Amino acid sequence: MSAVVEKHPDLIVRTAEPFNAGPPPRLLGRHWVTPTELFFVRNHGTVPEPDAAAYRLVVHGGTAGPLSLSLDDLRRFPRHAVTATLQCAGNRRRELLDLRDIPGEVPWDLEAISQGEWGGVSLYHVLELAGIRPGVAHVALIGLDEVERRGRRFGFGASIPLDKALGPEVLLADEMNGAPLSPLHGAPLRLVVPGYIGARSVKWLGEIVLQAQPSDNYFQAVAYQHFPPDVDATTAVEGAGRMLDELFVSTAICVPAAGASLPAGPTTVSGYAVGQGGRPIQGVEVSADGGRTWMEATLHGGQQPWAWQLWSTTVRLAAGPQTLVARAIDCDGHVQPADVDATWNYKGYMNNAWHRVEVLGQA
Ligand code: MTE
Repeated sequence: MSAVVEKHPDLIVRTAEPFNAGPPPRLLGRHWVTPTELFFVRNHGTVPEPDAAAYRLVVHGGTAGPLSLSLDDLRRFPRHAVTATLQCAGNRRRELLDLRDIPGEVPWDLEAISQGEWGGVSLYHVLELAGIRPGVAHVALIGLDEVERRGRRFGFGASIPLDKALGPEVLLADEMNGAPLSPLHGAPLRLVVPGYIGARSVKWLGEIVLQAQPSDNYFQAVAYQHFPPDVDATTAVEGAGRMLDELFVSTAICVPAAGASLPAGPTTVSGYAVGQGGRPIQGVEVSADGGRTWMEATLHGGQQPWAWQLWSTTVRLAAGPQTLVARAIDCDGHVQPADVDATWNYKGYMNNAWHRVEVLGQA
């Protein structure tokens, strides 16, 4: 099956192989739960299509003994559902690229984010059945896809701390938006780690290893690490960055689009916001004058953990060029830095500066 047939024709395709694409912001901001055909896709390698009957999830390492679970075995655990946002650490990289070049990374604008209704089994049920031996502090996850880096082929991998893995929200998901998980999104089984960067939500999950240390997989030990703004590709020490985990509080204006030409007067501004580590959003403010004065946006639905917040407001556009700005605060008081100078890093992760959109008001 072609990887892309299940997707909306208007998706912004950043790379065709591996397939990396996301919805145009005007469609993204329309749905509290993103329809599957619009849901962004971030792949690093092949899209495997494991045979469901032969599929086994293997759990080993610091366990009482190895486990090998079929999909039928997994269906015997209690079912759990979570509405959760998935956001790639590279979301909003384009604004960082405008400041200084970031070679070799996907130039996502604001579309590497979506929200799903995930159904499956809380990971902790399976970990409890496996038996967690003393000394285990991390849960490593390995996908069945094949990624090539530095002449080696291996499955995409990640790890999450054991404390996070025991939260009921962390799901072994076999359902997305009320339907069986599709191949592009990780069928037959993926992990969903609400509140963490998307890279920890390993798709096509084949293996779980309980261990004392974080995973040494390239995508945990080398990529998806955060360096300060003054480090660049020539000075970075590989693996010495901070391993990314919790999402940062962030917001983005989906409508109007950058460069839009609009009649001066009242105009609707709308977008999404996420809280630090999946915390609910407390408020979003919008400025129509580049950040001098602010007005409170209306929040639509949501205000629940793990889920994003859609918002809108009406501002009065003056005639001429002007900058719309949005910023958010979450329920624990986390706020965004004002400028991309503060968020720039040489791999282009976690840009959560205030979001600015230049528009033209027509007299
Ligand atoms: N899991 C595997 N096995 N292979 C991958 O390439 N990409 C990760 C994560 N899980 C990836 C993976 C990244 S970086 C993100 S942002 C999310 O999957 C994207 O999930 P989606 O494609 O369902 O939106």
